[in-house]
Amino acid sequence: MTAFPPRAAAFGDDAVGSEGSLTNISASQASGLTAHATTSTAYHPTAQAGNDFLPGPVLLLGAPGVGKGTQAQLLVTKYNIPQISTGDLLRGNIARGTELGLKAKEIMSSGHLVDDEIVNQMVLHRLQEPDTHQGYILDGYPRTLDQAKFLDRTIADPIFLPRLPVVAISIVVSYDQLLQRITGRRTCPTCKHIYNIYSNAPKVADVCDYDEAALTQRSDDTEPVFIERMKTFDAQTAPVVAHYRDQGRFAEVDGNLSLESVNVAIEQALIDLRRATR
Ligand code: AP5
Ligand code: MG
Repeated sequence: MTAFPPRAAAFGDDAVGSEGSLTNISASQASGLTAHATTSTAYHPTAQAGNDFLPGPVLLLGAPGVGKGTQAQLLVTKYNIPQISTGDLLRGNIARGTELGLKAKEIMSSGHLVDDEIVNQMVLHRLQEPDTHQGYILDGYPRTLDQAKFLDRTIADPIFLPRLPVVAISIVVSYDQLLQRITGRRTCPTCKHIYNIYSNAPKVADVCDYDEAALTQRSDDTEPVFIERMKTFDAQTAPVVAHYRDQGRFAEVDGNLSLESVNVAIEQALIDLRRATR
C-alpha cells in the first residue's frame, strides 16, 4: 500500500470542472522546440525541480490501465496543478444522469470512444478555469488525431495559460500486466483514490484507507471490454502517441515498474522536457 494521501478536491469529478449537463460543458503555444527524450526508469533519488518550476501542460498518454490516473494523482499532489481526466468527467456525467452521461454510457461500456466534438468541448471549457494557469495534467485526452489537432490549435491561442508548449509522456506496460491491473482495480467513489487488489490493496479489503468509503469497480473493467478498449487504443490512440513523438517534447517511461519508480521517471522526464523547451 502506498502512503500517498488522496487529494479529493484536486482529482474528484467535481474538481475536473464538471457541473454536469451537456449544456454546462458545451461552452466551450506550442513553440517549435524539439527535444526528444527517452527516460530511464531506473529508480533514482526524487527528481528536484526547484521552487520556480512551472510544470505547464502535461499529457499522460498510454493504453487502458497503464497508470495514467495513478500517476496524475501523484503529480497533482507534487505540483498543485489539476488533473483533467476525460474519463472521470464522463463518468461524473453518467453518475449524475445528465444528457451527456446517457449518451456516453453505452459507448464507454462498449470500449469505444465518445465523439470528438463532445470531448473537445468538455476540455475546452475546463481549460478556461483559472486553476490551469500554472499547468495541468491531461489524463486520457487527446486520444484521436482530431482531438490532438484540436488541442494543439486551442492552446496556441494566447488566452490560454500558461503560455508553454505541451509535453507528452507516454507510459508503456505489457499486455498481460494491463489485464491484471484492469480487473484488479478498485476506486474510492468519494476521494477517487485508485487501488488494486493485487498490487496496491487498501488496508481493509474493499474499504478506502482515507475516508472508509466502500470501494467500487468500474463497469468497463471486465476482460471483454478491456479487449475492445485495447483495439480502440491501437487503432485510434497509438497515432496520437506517434504525433507527439514526432513533435518532440516527448518521453516514454516504463510503466511495468513500481508505482514509485514510474513516478520518479515521470517527474524526471517532465523536468528534462521543460528545461529543453524554455
Ligand atoms: P478512461 O477512464 O480514460 O480509461 P482508460 O484510458 O482506458 O484508462 P484507465 O483509466 O483504465 O487506466 P489508467 O491508465 O488511468 O490506469 P490507473 O492509474 O487507473 O476512459 C474510459 C472511457 O471513457 C474510454 O474507453 C472512452 O469510452 C471514454 N473516453 C475517455 N476519454 C476519452 C476521449 N478523450 N475521447 C473519447 N472517449 C473518451 O491504474 C490501473 C490499475 O493499475 C489500478 O488498479 C492501479 O492501482 C494499478 N497500477 C497503476 N500503476 C501501477 C504500477 N506501477 N504497478 C502496479 N499497479 C499499478
Ligand atoms: Mg484512468
